[in-house]
Amino acid sequence: MKLVKPVAADRLSALLRQMPKAELHIHIEGSLEPELIFALAKRNAVQLPYASVDALRSAYAFTNLQSFLDIYYAGASVLITEQDFYDMAMAYFARAAEDNVIHAELFFDPQTHTARGVSMETVINGLHRACVDAQAELGVSASLILCFLRHLSEEEAFETLEQALPYRDKLIGIGLDSGEVGNPPEKFARVFARCRELGFHLVAHAGEEGPPAYVWTALDVLKVERIDHGVQSSKDALLMQRLAKDRIALTVCPLSNLKLCVFPDLASHNLRQLLEAGLAATVNSDDPAYFGGYLNENFTQTFAATQLNAGHAYTLARNSFEASFIGASAKKRHIDRLNAYFENFC
Ligand code: HPA
Ligand code: ZN
Repeated sequence: MKLVKPVAADRLSALLRQMPKAELHIHIEGSLEPELIFALAKRNAVQLPYASVDALRSAYAFTNLQSFLDIYYAGASVLITEQDFYDMAMAYFARAAEDNVIHAELFFDPQTHTARGVSMETVINGLHRACVDAQAELGVSASLILCFLRHLSEEEAFETLEQALPYRDKLIGIGLDSGEVGNPPEKFARVFARCRELGFHLVAHAGEEGPPAYVWTALDVLKVERIDHGVQSSKDALLMQRLAKDRIALTVCPLSNLKLCVFPDLASHNLRQLLEAGLAATVNSDDPAYFGGYLNENFTQTFAATQLNAGHAYTLARNSFEASFIGASAKKRHIDRLNAYFENFC
C-alpha cells in the first residue's frame, strides 16, 4: 500500500477535486438535469406534469428509493430520439470531466424506454456515440452497462437481453436496478447465468435498502463482480469478511444514501467503516441530477462529514480504477497517473 503524506485540511478539498478518478455507478438517466428535461420535452412535444424547472426541482424531496424512482422514470419520458440519448450522455461527460473523472461506466435502463416505444437501437446507438466522442473530445474513456429493472419479471429481462444482443459489442456488462425490497437477486438467476455465458461483466444493486441476504445471493447466485451500494453489508460480520477477502468492490453513493434516507445524515455514513474493514469501497454519484451533486460533491461532502483524510482519498481513487472493467494496460496507466498526482500534491 502506498504511503500517503498528510494533507492540511484546507488543501484536502482541492486534492479530492483534482485527483484522477473513475466513476462506476452512474445511471445516465439520473444525470438529466431539470433544464435538460424541459428542453427535451419541448423538442419532442412531451407533456410534463410540472409547470416549470423550479416546480420539478421542488418535487425532489424523497423519503425512500421508490419515492425517487417514480419521479426518475417520469423524467426519462422526454427521451425519444438517438440525439436525445447522445445529448444526455455528453452533458454528463462534460460535467464529469470537470470533476477529473477519466473513466466512467454508465448504467442505462432500456426497459424504461422500450416500454414507451423507443427502440433498443435508438438507446444504445445514442449512448455509444457519446462514449466515442467523450474519449475523442474530453479524454474520458467510457463504457455501457445495461441494467434490468428488477420490479419487472425475469422473462422481460430475457426479452430485453434478446433485443440488446445485436449491439453486444457496444456493452461491457449487465446490471440490476430499480426497487430492491421484494425483488431479490435470485429472481434473475437464469438470465444472469445466460449473460455470464455470453461473456458480459456482471454487477447488481444489493444492500442499498435491502438486507445483507441480497448481497450474499448477488455474489453466490448471480456471481456478480461488484456490488452496487452494498452499504447494508455492515450489518453482517461474515459478509464483511467475505467482501474483504474476495476484494469485491462496493460502488458506494453517499449523497444518494443521504437523499433516500438510508442514513439520517452524512456523518452517520459507514464509508469509513467499510474502508477500515478492508473492503474495496469506491465513491460514486448514482443519480447526480436528483441527489444534489456530481462526483466531487460526493467526495468533498462525505470527507468533511466523516473526517476522512488523504490516505482514504488515495485508496478510494485507486479502488475505482482497480474495480473498473478496463483492460490491464489502461488500468496500469490510470494508476500510474494517480500515483504521480499524489507524489506531486503531497
Ligand atoms: N437504486 C436502484 N435503482 C436505481 C437507482 C438506485 O439507486 N438509481 C436509479 N435506479
Ligand atoms: Zn444506482
